[in-house]
Amino acid sequence: MTETAKVALVTGGNRGIGYHVARQLAEAGVHVLLGARDLDRGRAAVAALAADGLDVHLVQLDVTDAASVAAAAKAIEADPGRLDILVNNAGIAAGFAPPSQASLDEVRATYETNVFGVIATTNAMLPLLRRSPAARIVNVTSVLGAMHLLTDPTARWADLTPLAYRSSKAALNAVTVLYATELRDTRITVNAICPGLRATGFGGGSPPPGAGDPAEGAAGVVRLALHNDDGVTGRFFNYDGTPYRW
Ligand SMILES: NC(=O)c1ccc[n+]([C@@H]2O[C@H](COP(=O)([O-])OP(=O)(O)OC[C@H]3O[C@@H](n4cnc5c(N)ncnc54)[C@H](OP(=O)(O)O)[C@@H]3O)[C@@H](O)[C@H]2O)c1
Repeated sequence: MTETAKVALVTGGNRGIGYHVARQLAEAGVHVLLGARDLDRGRAAVAALAADGLDVHLVQLDVTDAASVAAAAKAIEADPGRLDILVNNAGIAAGFAPPSQASLDEVRATYETNVFGVIATTNAMLPLLRRSPAARIVNVTSVLGAMHLLTDPTARWADLTPLAYRSSKAALNAVTVLYATELRDTRITVNAICPGLRATGFGGGSPPPGAGDPAEGAAGVVRLALHNDDGVTGRFFNYDGTPYRW
C-alpha cells in the first residue's frame, strides 16, 4: 500500500457483487479491506485476489454483530488509520414471503443485515471516513425498494411482494438520504446504487432468468465509489450510472 492510495472497506466482500467490487477497486489502485463475516470464506477470497497481485486485506466483519463491527473499526483505526470509501454491500433476503405471510423472524433478520447493519457499520466507520479529504459511502440497494415503483401498480415487479426485502431496501434508501443530509457540509458523500439483477448466490437457489454478470453490477458501484464530484450526494443510481427516482 502506498501512502497516497485510497482505502476502501467492502462489506460482504467474499463473494457475489461485493467480491467483484473488492477486485475492481484493487485493480484501480485502491487498498481494499475485504469485509467477510466468515474468516475461512474471507481468506479464500483474499487469496484469490492476492494471487492476481491485488492489494486486498481481510477484515472480519459481521454487520449484525456489534462486537465484530467495533473490532473491525478498531483494527482499521490501528492500520491503516483512515478510510476513504465504505461500500455497504452485505445484504440478504431471509425469505420472500408476502406481507400477510411474513414472519417477524424473517423481517427482523433481513433488517438486521440490510438496514441496521448498514447503520452500525457506517456509524462505526464515520470517524475514519472524516479523516479522508473526499470520502464516499456507497449503499448497495435495489430498485425493488424504490417507492415510485412500489406505489405504481403498472410498474415492472409490481406483483413481487416479498415484504422483508423490498421494505428493507426502501428503508435503506431513506437511510441513505438521511445520512447525505446530515453530512451535506462535510467531505463525505452518501449515495445508493442498484447493481441490477445479477447471477450470484443471493437468496439461495439458482439465479433468476435474465440475471447478468455480477462484475457488471460491481463496476457501477466502483464508479460511484471513485467519483470526483463532491456535489453528488443523496442520489440513487442504476449500475450504468442512470439516475433513479427514489
Ligand atoms: N444479486 C442481485 O440480483 C441483486 C440485485 C439488487 C441488489 N442486490 C444487492 O447487492 C448486494 C450483494 O448481493 P449479492 O447478489 O452479491 O449477494 P450474495 O452473493 O448472496 O452475497 C452476499 C454477501 O453478503 C455477505 N453477508 C451476508 N450477511 C452478512 C452479514 N451479516 N455481515 C457481513 N456480510 C454478510 C455474504 O457473506 P457469506 O458468504 O458469509 O454469506 C456475502 O459475502 C446485496 O445488498 C443485495 O441486496 C443484489
